[in-house]
Amino acid sequence: MTTTATRPGVGPNGPQRPRAAITAKTLRTDRWWLAPLITFVGLGAWVAYATVRVFMHKWYFVEQYHYLTPFYSPCLTDRCVEGSALFGTPLPSWWILPEAAFTLPFLLLFRLTCYYYRKAYYRAFWLSPPACAVPDGHAKYTGETRFPLIFQNAHRYAFYAAMIISLINTYDAIIAFRSGDSFGFGLGNIILVGNVVMLWLYTLSCHSCRHITGGRLKHFSKHPVRYRVWTFVSKLNVRHMQLAWITLGTLALTDFYVMAVSAGWFSDLRFVG
Ligand code: FES
Repeated sequence: MTTTATRPGVGPNGPQRPRAAITAKTLRTDRWWLAPLITFVGLGAWVAYATVRVFMHKWYFVEQYHYLTPFYSPCLTDRCVEGSALFGTPLPSWWILPEAAFTLPFLLLFRLTCYYYRKAYYRAFWLSPPACAVPDGHAKYTGETRFPLIFQNAHRYAFYAAMIISLINTYDAIIAFRSGDSFGFGLGNIILVGNVVMLWLYTLSCHSCRHITGGRLKHFSKHPVRYRVWTFVSKLNVRHMQLAWITLGTLALTDFYVMAVSAGWFSDLRFVG
C-alpha cells in the first residue's frame, strides 16, 4: 500500500495537510454506516410526523381535561378551539400558519443549532463526514465559518427562547390537572408532566447553559452558587445526546396521546375526576 501524500485535504480555511493516497473509500471494516442510517431514519420519521401534525390543525386539545399538545402551544390563531388559547388569538387562521407560530420557529432553531443534532445531521444527512475515518461526501468543506452555517452560533440565543417555551409547556402541564372546574388526574397528566420534565432536562443540559452557568469565571471558589449549578448542569450535559432523543420520543408520544383522546380513538385513563 502506498502512503505517498498526493491528495490534499480541505478545511474551512483552505487546503490542509496532504492526505495519504489510498484508493479505498475507507479502511474501516466495521458497520460504520449503521449509526448515521439509524439517525437518518429516526430524525426523518420524526420531522415527517411533526410536519403532518403541525399542519393538521385539529385534534390538539382535549377540552374536558385541558390537555394541549406541545406542538400547538401556545395556541395563537383565531382557529384555536375554545379553551386552548391561553394567551389570546392575535394571528389569523391561514392554513400555512401553525397554531404555535411564535414558538415553533424558535424550537426549530434551538434543535437545529444544538451541538448534538449538528453532529447527527451533518453525519446522517450531509455525509460531512458520515463517520470517523470515512471521507467527506462533498468535495469542499467550509465548516461553520461562513454563510449559512455561521448562523449555528445563534444557538445561545435560541437557548433563552427554549427556556421561555419550557415555562409555557410547564404551565400547560399544571393547568391540565383540572377536570371541569375541579381537580382531575389521568394518564394524560403523567404523559404531559413526564414530557415537561424531560424537556427541562434536555434544555438545562445544553452546552450553552453550561457556559452561561460556569463560563468566564476565573475562580469557582469565589462563586460557590454558580459552581454548584454548573456542576449540576455538567452532569446533565454528559447525557445530552440521550436527552435529545428521549425528548423527541416524549414529544411525539404526548402529541399522539392528546390527538388520540381528542379524536375519540380511546378515552383518557382517569384516576381522579
Ligand atoms: Fe444541544 Fe444546546 S447544545 S440544546
